Amino acid sequence: MIRRFFLDNIAAIFRDKQYVLMIYNIIIAAILTIFPAADSCFPTSSTQAIVGLSETLESDSHESTVVETSTFTSSSTTSTSTTTTVPLVWHCLNDTWILFDRGSYSWCMILVEQYAALSDGDSLCKTVDSSAVLSGFQNVNELETIVKAQLAITDIIDAIEIGAGLKTHACKTQADWDAGTCTAQNGYQWTDGYTTGTDGFVWAEGYPDGCVNDVCSTNVLLAVQDGNLASFPATDGAFAVVCGLKAVAE
Ligand SMILES: *[C@@H]1O[C@H](CO)[C@@H](O)[C@H](O)[C@H]1NC(C)=O
Repeated sequence: MIRRFFLDNIAAIFRDKQYVLMIYNIIIAAILTIFPAADSCFPTSSTQAIVGLSETLESDSHESTVVETSTFTSSSTTSTSTTTTVPLVWHCLNDTWILFDRGSYSWCMILVEQYAALSDGDSLCKTVDSSAVLSGFQNVNELETIVKAQLAITDIIDAIEIGAGLKTHACKTQADWDAGTCTAQNGYQWTDGYTTGTDGFVWAEGYPDGCVNDVCSTNVLLAVQDGNLASFPATDGAFAVVCGLKAVAE
């Protein structure tokens, strides 16, 4: 008796077109949930596809259902195909070197606690690493960091030889300094091949001294003195040198 009642109702349901459409919708929705579109990786796209299907079923068109579904899928695929650029990671040979960010590249510096005359500084750096050079300072932060590193080793901070001090050709005569064409900012240049600008030329009191003591006619030794830069005759030496090397990117 109960069984008979159930079958009658099923038959009634199938006679009503509206119920058939509703059941059809439920079955299709279930299939799409279990088997989302092959090239769709995200739950949102299968949800969108189901919405598209229901809408078009109301207008009784199976052909446009397919079109709707693929439209949603392809638009979601396009929006997720953007590539992301991973920033370069720069590093020095080991932790004894100090890493400095210089924008388009990074620079490593190391302090070598050994006496060196002006002419010996660069070759001393080459004994540390064959590609190392006597380093310049790109900015005040680099100067201050090296001074702090030196203070951590010794209390002598007035003689760190750096990669600068060769006066530009135009600044090699007293007349250039007297005329004011050569100044503290343009009278010197960096020699390491990487350091640029004048932000790192932060001078100690009384420096640079132009052609005082006749250093103008020859190269001068530039070194850190009392935390800032000072110029010395080429015959002088320094108790330490600061060597630089371009960091390695990966
Ligand atoms: C780091 O490397 C330098 C040479 O590049 C070397 O002189 C120094 O001993 C090294 N330091 C350590 C802790 O390995």
